[in-house]
Amino acid sequence: MLDGKRILLVISGGIAAYKCPDLVRRLRERGASVRCVLSDAAKQFVTPLALGAVSEDKVYDNLFSLTDEHEMGHIQLSREADVLLVAPATANILAKMAHGEANDLATTVLLATDKPVLAAPAMNVRMWEHAATQANIATLRSRGVTMIGPEEGDMACGEYGMGRMTDTLDIVAALEEFFSTGRPLAGKRALVTSGPTYEPIDPVRYIANRSSGKQGHAIATALAALGAETTLVSGPTRLADPAGVKAVHIESAAEMLAACKAALPVDIAVCAAAVCDWRVAEEASEKLKKPPGDAPPPLHLAENPDILATLSQAGGTRPGLVIGFAAETENVVGNAEAKLARKGCDWIVANDVSPETGTFAGDSNTVHLITAGSSEDWPALSKTEVGERLARRIAETLSPETEIV
Ligand code: CTP
Repeated sequence: MLDGKRILLVISGGIAAYKCPDLVRRLRERGASVRCVLSDAAKQFVTPLALGAVSEDKVYDNLFSLTDEHEMGHIQLSREADVLLVAPATANILAKMAHGEANDLATTVLLATDKPVLAAPAMNVRMWEHAATQANIATLRSRGVTMIGPEEGDMACGEYGMGRMTDTLDIVAALEEFFSTGRPLAGKRALVTSGPTYEPIDPVRYIANRSSGKQGHAIATALAALGAETTLVSGPTRLADPAGVKAVHIESAAEMLAACKAALPVDIAVCAAAVCDWRVAEEASEKLKKPPGDAPPPLHLAENPDILATLSQAGGTRPGLVIGFAAETENVVGNAEAKLARKGCDWIVANDVSPETGTFAGDSNTVHLITAGSSEDWPALSKTEVGERLARRIAETLSPETEIV
C-alpha cells in the first residue's frame, strides 16, 4: 500500500506517456496522492486535461507561469512530495538530469529537489544501448537515482529489444517496495562527512590532502537510499551532490565541525572525511610575498578539532552510532583498533591508503570493519558497494526487525 504517500510524477515526452493516466489511477487506488508535471514534449502524447481528471489535482507544465510560481513554486512542488517519479524517462530527460540542465519546469524541479528520485526509462533499443545513455544512467545511479526497468519487448517504433517502459503495475510495485522493505532507515537521521578539508595559509594558498570524497559521498547516497534523512558535510570535491541528500559545503576543519554540530541531533554519524590534522596557526590576511633573497617563511601549525572524537563524546547529542574511518599505510587493523578506542566511536572502517593501493583517488576500496571486540575483512569492492554494504550493516543494527532486500 502507498497510504498517504505523495508522489510527484514527472512525465517526459515519449510514447509511453499515454500510460500515465492509468499509472496515476493505480497509484491513487493504493492510497497515494499524485501530482503531475509535464514537459512540453509530454503534452504531445498525453493531455493535462486527462491527467488533471485522474489525479484530481492541478497539472503543472510551465516554469514561467506567474500564477503557478505564485501559488506553487517549483521548489514547493518538490517540497510537498515524498518521492519524484520520472515516467516515462526519455533518453533526453535522463541526459538533462545527468548534466544538471534546467530549461523547463520538469528539469528544474528535478535539479532543485532533495527528495529521492525514481525513473522508469523508455526509449528505442539503440538509444538505450548508446554509450551516452549508458553513461548518463551510471551517473544518475551513482547519485542515488533508482532505475525501474526498462524491459525487453516489442516497441511502439516496431522494433524489439531493451527500452520498453516497465508495465504500470510493476512501477506501482517498485514504489511499494521502495516505501517498505527498501527503506529500513526511514525515520532515522544520518550525518556523513566527506572529502578533504582546505586549511588556508593566506587568501590564495591552502594546505589540503588527496581525498576525492568518493567514499563519503557513496555512503551518504546509500544511507539516503535506505530511507535515512541524510546530511552530507563535504569539503571541496569534484563530485555532484547525491540526490536525496542535504549537502552542506565547507572548506576548513573548523567549518566542518560547525556544520556537523548544526546537523545534530542524528541517529547515525559516519566520519569519512580526510580532515587535515593541522591548520595554519595564523592565516595571513594578505597574500604572502616572496621578497628577493629572503628565506621561505615558516608555517606554524595548530591542531585542528577532531570531529569524530567530538561527535563520539558521551552526552545528550551523541549519535546512537558513530562510525569513523582509519586511513592507514601500515599495521592497518592494529592501528584502527587503537583509533577506535582513542576516538571513542562505535565502529571503524579501516582502509589501506598506501600509494600502491590507489585507494585515495580510485574507485575501489578494500576495508576491514572493526567493532568493539571484532574485526571483519571485506573483499575488494567498489566504493559504491562499500557504501551500500555499510549502510545495510547500519540498518541491520538499528532496525534489526527489518528484512533488507
Ligand atoms: N577525523 C576527524 N577530525 C580530525 C581528524 C580525523 O573527524 N581532525 C576522523 C576522520 O574523518 C576519520 C578518523 O577521524 O573518520 C580517522 O582519521 P585518520 O586521518 O585516519 O586519523 P587521525 O585521527 O588523523 O590519526 P593519524 O593521522 O595519526 O592516523
